[in-house]
Amino acid sequence: VKAGVLGSGRVGQAIAGRLSELGHDVVAGTRDVEATLARTEPDAMGNRPFSAWWAEHPQVGLATFAGAAEQGEVLVNATNGAASLQALTAAGADNLAGKVLLDATNPLDFSVMPPTLNPVNSDSLGEQIQRAFPEAKVVKALNTVTAAVMIRPAMVGDGDHTVFMSGDDADAKATVAALLRDFGWRDIVDLGDITTARGTEMMIAVWLRMMQAFGTTEFGYKIVR
Ligand SMILES: NC(=O)c1ccc[n+]([C@@H]2O[C@H](COP(=O)([O-])OP(=O)(O)OC[C@H]3O[C@@H](n4cnc5c(N)ncnc54)[C@H](OP(=O)(O)O)[C@@H]3O)[C@@H](O)[C@H]2O)c1
Repeated sequence: VKAGVLGSGRVGQAIAGRLSELGHDVVAGTRDVEATLARTEPDAMGNRPFSAWWAEHPQVGLATFAGAAEQGEVLVNATNGAASLQALTAAGADNLAGKVLLDATNPLDFSVMPPTLNPVNSDSLGEQIQRAFPEAKVVKALNTVTAAVMIRPAMVGDGDHTVFMSGDDADAKATVAALLRDFGWRDIVDLGDITTARGTEMMIAVWLRMMQAFGTTEFGYKIVR
């Protein structure tokens, strides 16, 4: 598959790298290719710059959001939650139309600590994206674990924990489920239509408290029936 991964942060890097490792042809998207490659210092969170990651993954293409969205047959939204609608607008509605858009975002508002969600309760970012880009096939998934666990669930516990999907299009969810299985996920729960993303986005509130309690980001939710 030719994949367009919109986002140059930890999630974009993790998913682009893993898809490429699995043999897919991957193009990562960013606002401004030159500006992204010019950054040589770690960001405020101490994450190493994209250029350092890219030097180790030269097989991954790099383009603007529009370029990556145009080239990708399957797309991933790994952009900042507060800026996702802006980033996807830059990617271009025409470039999203008819394509699977795996949405791994959380709409976190970091202006208060601990961060809150916006939207929340009666709406979700997954739904906002689906409404803004009705021809895209949005599937919310992977937003309930840290980037490293998204692509290698077996790095925590026995790997038999749970990942969730929300989306309106059954075929798009089948495509995403196949990718998730390739990443190593074995317990994939299809929660239903895109409105169910409200539930998994709100799981981040618990996730943040667990991160505080455990002192690590490397854990997952396991649903026991
Ligand atoms: N980090 C995790 O482990 C984790 C786990 C679960 C879910 N998530 C979610 O995944 C998404 C990505 O997270 P992340 O940690 O990889 O990085 P992030 O810092 O949240 O997002 C980085 C991406 O957002 C883009 N961006 C930032 N501000 C923008 C703006 N004003 N307009 C357009 N684009 C903008 C950046 O563009 P440039 O490329 O141009 O810099 C970059 O591609 C977020 O929604 C986050 O909530 C993250």
